[in-house]
Amino acid sequence: MRVTIFGSGYVGLVSGACMAEMGNDVVCCDIDQDKIDRLNKGEMPIFEPGLETMVERNREAGRLTFTTDVVEAVGYGLFQFIAVGTPPDEDGSADLSHVLAVARSIGQNMNDYRVIVDKSTVPVGTADKVKAEIQAQLDARKVDFEFDVVSNPEFLKEGAAINDFMKPDRIIIGTDNPRTTELLHALYEPFNRNHDRMITMDIRSAELTKYAANAMLATKISFMNELANIAERMGADIEKVRVGIGSDPRIGYNFIYPGGGYGGSCFPKDVRALAKSAEDEGFDAEILKSVEAVNNRQKLRLFEKIAAHYGDDLSGKTIAIWGLSFKPKTDDMRDAPSRVLMEALWEAGASVRAYDPEAMYETRRIYPDEDGLTLCDSSAAALEGADALAILTEWQEFRSPDFDSIKEALTDDVIFDGRNLYEPSTVEAHGIQYYAIGRGR
Ligand SMILES: NC(=O)c1ccc[n+]([C@@H]2O[C@H](COP(=O)([O-])OP(=O)(O)OC[C@H]3O[C@@H](n4cnc5c(N)ncnc54)[C@H](O)[C@@H]3O)[C@@H](O)[C@H]2O)c1
Repeated sequence: MRVTIFGSGYVGLVSGACMAEMGNDVVCCDIDQDKIDRLNKGEMPIFEPGLETMVERNREAGRLTFTTDVVEAVGYGLFQFIAVGTPPDEDGSADLSHVLAVARSIGQNMNDYRVIVDKSTVPVGTADKVKAEIQAQLDARKVDFEFDVVSNPEFLKEGAAINDFMKPDRIIIGTDNPRTTELLHALYEPFNRNHDRMITMDIRSAELTKYAANAMLATKISFMNELANIAERMGADIEKVRVGIGSDPRIGYNFIYPGGGYGGSCFPKDVRALAKSAEDEGFDAEILKSVEAVNNRQKLRLFEKIAAHYGDDLSGKTIAIWGLSFKPKTDDMRDAPSRVLMEALWEAGASVRAYDPEAMYETRRIYPDEDGLTLCDSSAAALEGADALAILTEWQEFRSPDFDSIKEALTDDVIFDGRNLYEPSTVEAHGIQYYAIGRGR
């Protein structure tokens, strides 16, 4: 099948590569000329495990091509996927300008039946706006071509995106026309071989399903962080509590890890956008607002622990940071807790020596002129000359460190662990003071 995908970011590129891998012919279209040039040269604009080889294989086979030419892109695929960004507007609502710009391009250039598939995370009612935008362009051209707009939100996780796309838990299709259900069923057939994962529903419910999923996951995290803060004050260990409650199948062990708050390109903006959509409908979404408030507070917890240990003035102190990306196996720094910590440390006069296996380039891009930031090429190098260590991302290579070397390198022999990677007694047995989340201090 011929597929066009607008937006070659984490979602668009992964979707395009996976669909090409299944034998479809895919054109990826992006407005970022530099990104498209790099992709055409075989370079990866983002880090996602397994993506580079898959893109390369399908590019060489001629099934995956990259362009900035919207005329070519609209003319190509029966399916026109929209996978562009929906960043937060100033008032917290989702900025639909990129989505509607794609709709406009489709309306301006289509000359045949098209199925427009919205994969971006968009507020309820967006499909109607996309439809209206396309129709307005067709009317302006005084032409009449049939088209359908479908909602097909994406649930992949950065760091495991290929596997999530190839073996999805569910494929949500929101449509008001059975014809599109059949067409998408055929397109997604190869991803459904084990069992049918397609769940069809009306468009508005599909649009809301994506927000509901992210809001639920964000709620689990904020809930556990709230409990961690309570546990700390009561002398309980949240890690014991976590295991205790997870054993109840109604609760489960997944996604109940306390830490330094959620980040990334999805949870923060989606929780905020859903609360704003509810407010626009005259409903005060109290849980969602609390989830966000708890998360914003949590992102400062590690700094509060550092400040409580040293006092508010940190001038002259150097903090080593392990982990900068918002979670392991990605280079994504959007809304990462590491940014909140680093900015608070700089504000308090401290400097930072940081290491991340993948997010160094992105960190330098975000803080090009920050004097208080030294990027180091290994976790050991980050410790050199540092007073204390703070851990922000649970990359596997941080899980079993040589504590004797850490103690030798650090001037003040103290670790602030925002991911609860270690057993407190193990760290303390090496003569290192250990602050974690919800574990007594
Ligand atoms: N990143 C994730 O893990 C994830 C998961 C599920 C859903 N989503 C949602 O998917 C959407 C895309 O997210 P992402 O992380 O891939 O974003 P991204 O920022 O990585 O990529 C978006 C791309 O769209 C391009 N773009 C913008 N306007 C365009 C236009 N008019 N025509 C063509 N390309 C255009 C940008 O240049 C960019 O390359 C968002 O709505 C997001 O909420 C993201």
